[in-house]
Amino acid sequence: MHKSVKDILDKKKNGQKISVITAYDYTLASLCDKAGIDIMLVGDSAGMVMLGYENTIPVTMEQMILFTEAVSRARQNSLVVADMPFMSYQASTSDAIANSGRLIKAGADSVKLEGGKIVAPTIQAIVETGIPVMGHIGFQPQTTTLAQGYRVQAKTKDAALTLIEDAKALEKAGAFSIALEMVTSEVSKIISESISIPTIGIGSGKFCDGQVLVVHDLLGMYDKLKPKFVKQYLSLSDQITKAVSTYKSDIESGKFPAKENWFTMDKTELDKLMSEVD
Ligand code: KIV
Repeated sequence: MHKSVKDILDKKKNGQKISVITAYDYTLASLCDKAGIDIMLVGDSAGMVMLGYENTIPVTMEQMILFTEAVSRARQNSLVVADMPFMSYQASTSDAIANSGRLIKAGADSVKLEGGKIVAPTIQAIVETGIPVMGHIGFQPQTTTLAQGYRVQAKTKDAALTLIEDAKALEKAGAFSIALEMVTSEVSKIISESISIPTIGIGSGKFCDGQVLVVHDLLGMYDKLKPKFVKQYLSLSDQITKAVSTYKSDIESGKFPAKENWFTMDKTELDKLMSEVD
């Protein structure tokens, strides 16, 4: 039986940290799930790391459904949360409900959407249909990138107060957790202590109830952006490039394939064949 929203809420109640990682494809999701991660987030960061877009804006519902299906097929243990892509929930509440339902049908257990107070009524409407929602405040890639570029959030008293109010509004609307992206650690601490639902930080310090990283960042597979908050546990880019270039030179030098990599005929069948071919 895989983890439930209640298991995630209980972790905060019991003072246990929550581990979250992004996942987009079957193979990596299987490995993350096997590692015992609590939540696999099918993030719209897929647009950048899987599809090569500059940002998350172009990501479509169809793409998110495909990634969500792949991750859901892989999971045995984790809770699967799927991101609502840009403009799948902003235009109307009925869009938001219909699109969150499509992600649940694709295998997600919950959806995530960006925004503070302003999206609270949308979150409430989705939650009322029975779909658990994770909020996402602080740096919001779908909109903050357009307005300000990458920037740390809640650096001033006023900005901090707004963010604290946003977090409380999302909790009141029924969100089961909130992602805090690039929020100063002092403000993340205040938020985490003033709401009962878990906060999941990315670049928001150690006082959050859980942490999330983009899987490609922690495995060292995506070199375009290297945010300060990422801890890189492997350097797969280097290892993969090196492996592929060795493969190329092995082909060119005849080192690959070797005897153990090909199939042979039975000697008597081969002799018969050769006599006919001759
Ligand atoms: O899309 C994503 O990967 C996210 C995380 C950065 C929280 O939303």
